[in-house]
Amino acid sequence: MNKVKVTVVGVGNVGSCVGFVLAQRAVCDEIVLVDIRTEWAIGQALDIVQSVAFSNDCHVKAGPLEECEGSDVVVIAAGKARSPEIKTRLDLAANNAQVIRSICPTIKEKCPNAVIITISNPMDVMNYLVWHLTGFPRQRVVGSGGMLDSSRACWMLGDGKSTSIDCFVLGEHGDGQAPVFSRARRDGAPITLPPAERQRTSEALRMSSMAVVSRKEATTFAPAANTVSMIQAILGDKKVLMPCSAILDGEYGLKGLSIGVPVVLGRGGIERIEQWDLDEFERERFYRGARVLQDMCRSLTQ
Ligand SMILES: NC(=O)c1ccc[n+]([C@@H]2O[C@H](COP(=O)([O-])OP(=O)(O)OC[C@H]3O[C@@H](n4cnc5c(N)ncnc54)[C@H](O)[C@@H]3O)[C@@H](O)[C@H]2O)c1
Repeated sequence: MNKVKVTVVGVGNVGSCVGFVLAQRAVCDEIVLVDIRTEWAIGQALDIVQSVAFSNDCHVKAGPLEECEGSDVVVIAAGKARSPEIKTRLDLAANNAQVIRSICPTIKEKCPNAVIITISNPMDVMNYLVWHLTGFPRQRVVGSGGMLDSSRACWMLGDGKSTSIDCFVLGEHGDGQAPVFSRARRDGAPITLPPAERQRTSEALRMSSMAVVSRKEATTFAPAANTVSMIQAILGDKKVLMPCSAILDGEYGLKGLSIGVPVVLGRGGIERIEQWDLDEFERERFYRGARVLQDMCRSLTQ
């Protein structure tokens, strides 16, 4: 049987956690950790592999980017992160675009059949840039952020029982995020949120990342665990509906961007994009974010 291999590029706060959760859940046979801080990456690999010594035989190693050869999935988590001084994810674009430009040619050459998952911020814009630079089919370039935003929404609405809640957050992974309250469910039954409650929850969601970053400097466990759930859906060909950033080609009347939409994930990456009817509140946010993303995607790729 073919061995399943996942490479994580950039193993700082969030990338290292992706490696750790991949190993804990025994998602693949081999994990390669890549970072410009080579000794750091070796340390991360040793720490992770020793964490599973009694539970599975996942092989974890650090290496140069060329070691991504033959990967089934490549996760990109390299680049600068937000700090309390860097107010929005969009402010990271110029720096992180350079990082993406430096790694994409090797990924394209060494693992032309991989599904790429982009974490680096501004995630939607970086995901678009990855697609543009690799020339991969758009189905195989997926952005991670919607699952994280949705897990936060479910946690907020669930009052301690988030698993009873179903609420997707679509749109930009950033200030233009669009929680789809019109489809929110508690134990399968629709929830009606009054306008003031929608506003309050949306604002709390918008601030939820900074609530972590301002205290512990980075979000780590939640984005990593949600990204690994996406990888499990892909490698296990699970055909699960998840909110992910996808390159649109006319869906939602949009082109020239990557943005959070409901997608079915399976072995081919994004197997289908669902087109949901959004109400006025949701549409306004979704398309406002889309305009910002289109402008940024255009300016980075023309
Ligand atoms: N999409 C999401 O849900 C989400 C969640 C958290 C963080 N992020 C983003 O992920 C990125 C990483 O965040 P972090 O907190 O782990 O930052 P970090 O600074 O802890 O880690 C980034 C790592 O990337 C490495 N790196 C930089 N350039 C590289 C290159 N060319 N090749 C290989 N490695 C390189 C650095 O050495 C560092 O180890 C940031 O852009 C952050 O905003 C996104």
